[in-house]
Amino acid sequence: MKTFDFVVIGSGIAGLTFALKASRFGEVAIITKRNLFESNTAYAQGGVACVTSTEDSFDLHLRDTIEAGAGLCDEVVARTIITEGPARIRELMELGVKFDERELPGGFKELDLTKEGGHSKRRVLHSQDATGREIEAKLVEAVRATNGITILEDHMAVDLITGGKLGFAVEDKVLGLYVLNCLTGRVETIRSGRVILATGGCGKVYLYTTNPDIATGDGVAMAWRAGATVANMEFIQFHPTCLYHHKERSFLISEALRGEGGVLKDARGEPFMHKYDSRKDLAPRDIVARAIDCEMKRTGAKCVYLDITHKPSTFVRDRFPMIYQRCLELGIDITSEPIPVVPAAHYQCGGVKTDINGQTSIPGLFAIGEVACTGLHGANRLASNSLLEGLVVAERAVRFIIAHPSSTRSTIVDLPEWESGDVQDIDELVVIYHNWDEIRRLMWDYVSIVRTDKRLRRASTRLRNLHSEIQEFYWNFKITRDLLELRNLTTVASLIVDSALSRRESRGLHYTLDYPDLDPVRFGKETLLHRF
Ligand code: FAD
Ligand code: SIN
Repeated sequence: MKTFDFVVIGSGIAGLTFALKASRFGEVAIITKRNLFESNTAYAQGGVACVTSTEDSFDLHLRDTIEAGAGLCDEVVARTIITEGPARIRELMELGVKFDERELPGGFKELDLTKEGGHSKRRVLHSQDATGREIEAKLVEAVRATNGITILEDHMAVDLITGGKLGFAVEDKVLGLYVLNCLTGRVETIRSGRVILATGGCGKVYLYTTNPDIATGDGVAMAWRAGATVANMEFIQFHPTCLYHHKERSFLISEALRGEGGVLKDARGEPFMHKYDSRKDLAPRDIVARAIDCEMKRTGAKCVYLDITHKPSTFVRDRFPMIYQRCLELGIDITSEPIPVVPAAHYQCGGVKTDINGQTSIPGLFAIGEVACTGLHGANRLASNSLLEGLVVAERAVRFIIAHPSSTRSTIVDLPEWESGDVQDIDELVVIYHNWDEIRRLMWDYVSIVRTDKRLRRASTRLRNLHSEIQEFYWNFKITRDLLELRNLTTVASLIVDSALSRRESRGLHYTLDYPDLDPVRFGKETLLHRF
């Protein structure tokens, strides 16, 4: 049985940042279910929101964050993350991350900042339109070059081991975890008193999403099974502009395109956002996604269009080379024709409830990045605040653990090995794929941008049935990555539905026809779900 001082599950911006910093204090293992690079982080386009200009201020960034969050942001958390951002950005640049700069008169240079929905100032640092790829690549390089970090790729965390689960009368601490080695099919036991969930979001719970395949909500599901508190799962952010194309279902068209002048239009070429918000195309995401949904339902159209053809083609090609190239490969020249787009599930604003240091309700268990709900995003995340949150909270979690050694010290106990009994290989893979598809479709049909109690209840009943079927598979067959992901997706889908049913108002990303108004008296607080 291997023992580590810190076990980090996930290798996106949050996990890699934590691992790099923690490696100065002890042995670190990074468990990641595909290769080290694969993560939502690697696909981030727009950039990192951070105050770096004299024309901007922390107060303005805070105001924009809170306004987007529709009354549910934790102001202290938001201020802390925003004010600590610049120091974390400097560290990224020291690691070699290159953010775009622009030339000033006299040969000077400054950071080239872009704008996105809900921001009152240009404050988003970017590397063309592939900011996440640049950050992830530099973090991966640094982690691979650091001693004291064991990297376990193709290893998938299955479940956490806690004192409570083992029936100890002592405090319910995290003690370790079970990990599936996806290459050998064996389940290994790893011991650690400090387990850091950095597993990202759950976009794959929906049929249409901008997220890559890894985003199956594993962290929230594992934490929930271990008894951790989960918060605000009803607030799933739908990005307004995912490319609409039969060959490419998850390709994001960055909000930065609208920040640089792109305009949303209907099939007749008419702009429509002025009908919904005075900020038009740069209103916060919940408003723009709902407006598109409404236009599509009203006209029966299958998509709307994002038009940036009025900008010089050299500017569009230089500023958005990845989007330009990918669209061109699919037959769309974005410099001369509008881009067909639809909303798609993009970001999980809720998650495992933590404080500003990533501490969950289970001692020794931390959650950082998209898997966590710190209170920064409230009912709707401000664009490009996610990478920022991952960076800041990763650093704070390391500092907290080092400053409080006794509350997270490894408890020396022998952990039981995984018991697989006489289970067999799954005989009918088709059932797994069918259930995957059913969950994603029913979440899209019943639990997406516009909700009703009737649809939510229907989803809840179906999910209960699917849950018992999947549990049966889990106990009777050898576990595989697909089966584990399916099990986690079902859990997360149920948490989303239960949270949505309990919020009888419309706020931020949760919009229901049954309760179309805001109810600040009864619902001006986060939704907390407790297992026990
Ligand atoms: P991730 O980067 O998603 O990493 C999660 C890691 O956990 C992965 O390595 C995964 O393989 C691993 N993992 C998951 N489950 C397990 C398991 N059971 N066992 C082992 N490993 C596991 N945000 C911004 O702020 N700015 C942007 O411009 C921006 N653009 C975006 C564009 C796209 C297309 C997408 C999808 C998201 C974008 N976001 C953006 C959101 C942002 O990218 C994510 O919220 C952020 O990268 C999450 O980082 P993370 O470290 O928490 O998780
Ligand atoms: C985008 O580039 O539009 C994504 C930004 C984000 O999700 O924060």
